[in-house]
Amino acid sequence: MTAPQARFSKKAALLTGAGSGIGKALALILAAEGADLVLAARSRDQLEQVAGAAREVGADKVLAQPTDVGDAAAVEDLARAAQEAFGGLDILVNCAGLGYADLVLEGDTAEAEEMIRVNLWGLYLVTRHCLPLIIARGGGDVVNFASIAGLLPSPGYAVYAATKYGVRGFSESLR
Ligand SMILES: NC(=O)c1ccc[n+]([C@@H]2O[C@H](COP(=O)([O-])OP(=O)(O)OC[C@H]3O[C@@H](n4cnc5c(N)ncnc54)[C@H](OP(=O)(O)O)[C@@H]3O)[C@@H](O)[C@H]2O)c1
Repeated sequence: MTAPQARFSKKAALLTGAGSGIGKALALILAAEGADLVLAARSRDQLEQVAGAAREVGADKVLAQPTDVGDAAAVEDLARAAQEAFGGLDILVNCAGLGYADLVLEGDTAEAEEMIRVNLWGLYLVTRHCLPLIIARGGGDVVNFASIAGLLPSPGYAVYAATKYGVRGFSESLR
């Protein structure tokens, strides 16, 4: 029987938003369970720290690739790096995301644009360029992070909610 900690042995997982929070936590769980990792976020320092921690808990191969998920060229580089490092992917975790709370008529338009660019456009770009690496291996898993804000609207979260409703619509349609 396979040991629980080896559940993801010989699996390659790419995580966005892997430098902190939920993405970091998931990266370390996958590392402890034997997965090879591609870690993406913008902060190289944070990614290197997570990569070090992942190796400490058992990851054999970890690639830290600083990437802005809203930058199409950078995302193409990310997918290429995953292909070169691991010959493909089995798991994609789209975790990069951010939220600013504000009323639509008072909020900063740059913050609204950033939420749409990262939470929705970035998730689309990463999926667009990385999913072919999973399909080429015969299948795998895609995990997209929405939010309770993508189920229940609330005042001050209109733009964030729009992105997370969008993540759900995209994910269900893709499925
Ligand atoms: N925490 C919650 O309670 C909660 C609840 C519901 C849903 N969520 C969702 O869960 C996900 C993770 O949330 P979290 O709380 O763990 O967030 P977090 O701790 O703020 O981490 C966000 C991660 O995304 C990365 N990121 C931000 N902008 C990026 C960009 N342009 N390109 C690439 N990476 C980028 C950040 O790194 P850099 O800044 O270095 O790029 C960081 O690694 C988000 O999608 C969030 O909406 C969280």
